[in-house]
Amino acid sequence: MMYQSANLYDALYAETKDYAKEVSRLHELITQHKTSSGRKLLDVACGTGQHLFFLKNHYEVEGLDINPDFIEISQKKLPQATIHKQNMMSFELPTKFDVITCLFSSIGYTKTYDCLASTLLNMRKHVKPGGLLIIEPWYTPSTFKPGHFTATIQEIDGGKVVRTNHWSQENGHSQGDSQFLVVNSSGIKHISEKHVLGLFSKESYTEALEAAGLKVVYDEHGLIGRGLYVGISPQT
Ligand SMILES: C[S@@+](CC[C@H](N)C(=O)[O-])C[C@H]1O[C@@H](n2cnc3c(N)ncnc32)[C@H](O)[C@@H]1O
Repeated sequence: MMYQSANLYDALYAETKDYAKEVSRLHELITQHKTSSGRKLLDVACGTGQHLFFLKNHYEVEGLDINPDFIEISQKKLPQATIHKQNMMSFELPTKFDVITCLFSSIGYTKTYDCLASTLLNMRKHVKPGGLLIIEPWYTPSTFKPGHFTATIQEIDGGKVVRTNHWSQENGHSQGDSQFLVVNSSGIKHISEKHVLGLFSKESYTEALEAAGLKVVYDEHGLIGRGLYVGISPQT
């Protein structure tokens, strides 16, 4: 799925998402569970780099995303950091990290359990002994509510954007239909996006993380109420 709305992303979440607060909770959890001695952190599916912007106060950060527009935005925000353009499902980096994060439900784009499991295994291969793999999940089959919809209007540079979202369930996946109308002095632009995310149960996430060789600690609330998996890599 290519986001065509990458340049609107920060404005759309400016009032509803507190990245500084989320990072302070993440830092607490990392401090509690990490036993590796380094500070190297990779944020997979980093989007516009908002978590990295605050994480860089504590860690040596790198990012990874598949979408060139998001990479350009995060690279501008973090000129010192390397942002890799790779697919989270198959990326290969020469470095191992003390912490890998994959946040705001981006893991849902793996869609199927087999892909979830192979993606987590690949991420885990890039984690140092004593390091952490932290996954913020999407909804589960029992918490996802088909028919959920939202509509927002937001000021952006030189104009306004109206966004409507509708979520349905298709073949066991959640499917989000997002329509944007961006208006400024040049006129109105319409953007249409579909997002398909897999619905995995808590047992599936836990099983896939354990199969990748990680000990799992689950935080029920997590950063924004969607839960959070902390996968701990053994020391040896
Ligand atoms: C909901 S956004 C989350 C962005 C960021 N983590 C945040 O918390 O704001 C989902 C992100 O996943 C990225 N993404 C989706 N599929 C991907 C893939 N296969 N490999 C890497 N990134 C992917 C998108 O480009 C987008 O940046």
